[in-house]
Amino acid sequence: MGTCTSLKDYGFNEEQLKKLDEIIDKHSCQEKLIPMLEEIQQLLGFIPVAVQERISQKTGICENDIYGVVSFYSYFTMEPRARHRIQVCLGTACYVKGGKKIANKIESRLHIKPGESTEDGKFTYEEARCFGTCGLAPVMAIDGTVYGKVKVEDIDEILSQYE
Ligand code: FES
Repeated sequence: MGTCTSLKDYGFNEEQLKKLDEIIDKHSCQEKLIPMLEEIQQLLGFIPVAVQERISQKTGICENDIYGVVSFYSYFTMEPRARHRIQVCLGTACYVKGGKKIANKIESRLHIKPGESTEDGKFTYEEARCFGTCGLAPVMAIDGTVYGKVKVEDIDEILSQYE
């Protein structure tokens, strides 16, 4: 029945749903919709309609407005992600230490832009904001495993570890 049931149908676990509600409560006004959606995308990997309904129910923001923002920005996606989720940090510390070069290399290597997945369903690629490990900048993560002090020439080898 309710939104909770349909959210669980996506395979989200209790902890994710609890954090989802915390994020929604933290940013519960229309002006903060984009930061809210960014955090939700980081948490869940995508923002399906059931999540948009949840946001609308809890905040009173019109569902159409939420849908409009999610579909407008390529950063957001409503589809489940590929088998592996690559996140490249473009927070300040990582950006200064060459994070953008890492991002560019991944984009050219996999022929995808942020928010997209490879056609073989292997990798999804996202830009991220600070993993809290700035001392290791530039940082990227795959499926939550953090790689620090990444060099452009390391990328091929890192990606080759994933099937
Ligand atoms: S800015 Fe990249 S980990 Fe903090």
